[in-house]
Amino acid sequence: MSGETWLVVPAYGRGERLGGRGPKAFLPLAGQPLVAYCLAAAAASGAVTAVVVVADPEAARATLAACPPASRRLVRAVAEGGATRRDSVRAGLLAVRAAVGGDADPVVLVHDAARPLAPPDLFARVAAAAAGGAVVCARPSPDTVKRVAGERVMETPPRDELVLAQTPQGARLSLLERAHAQWTGGEASDDAQLIEALGEPVRVVDGTPFNFKVTTTEDFALAEAWVRAGGAPWMPAARPGA
Ligand code: CTP
Ligand code: MG
Repeated sequence: MSGETWLVVPAYGRGERLGGRGPKAFLPLAGQPLVAYCLAAAAASGAVTAVVVVADPEAARATLAACPPASRRLVRAVAEGGATRRDSVRAGLLAVRAAVGGDADPVVLVHDAARPLAPPDLFARVAAAAAGGAVVCARPSPDTVKRVAGERVMETPPRDELVLAQTPQGARLSLLERAHAQWTGGEASDDAQLIEALGEPVRVVDGTPFNFKVTTTEDFALAEAWVRAGGAPWMPAARPGA
């Protein structure tokens, strides 16, 4: 099945920094579960042909049943997550491998359910770039970044050498599998880092400030305000009273 582009959506996190109101990916944002946004964007991109959602299977099935048909059609599997994001992505990669068979090497994107505002064209651009090697989307840092040790500033790296990494990130399945299998570091907050550790090149494409990660209640409120103010046409319809 060459020519397929898979998307793995880690959605198994507990949302502790949001106050532990339940798994973050299934909290309603303007009446729609957070995870429904990236599925709608992936469907609208035209670039993603199959999706694995990594989540609690029961929560995922109920949520998916309520998603628009274009999103629902893409989802080929739900995989149960693990203790860390890395474990969850690995579970997603195993599900992709199980679906495509031993010899296939499709492009696989990984996108956090916690970034609901990633637009369709971003999925398309990352998918196109990932056919030729590993890719991460990122944006320039609007703030000056300091390296610190506790409260002490140690260094101010030149800002033009810094970007803020987002998801989607992507690569061929075999490269992601190798990167996850060979990683010996501690917790890693993205997949590009694992590929970098192999010594393989990772290319940067432009992300967007709207693609911020919903981590805190402030982020959640900001994302919700934006969706309620009109959002974008590809988004699942906001439910006014919800
Ligand atoms: N994630 C996952 N499995 C885990 C941990 C995280 O699938 N064991 C996913 C989250 O669902 C999220 C993404 O990885 O889409 C980024 O994680 P983060 O923003 O840290 O989400 P949570 O882990 O849910 O939040 P917190 O760290 O505040 O608990
Ligand atoms: Mg987390």
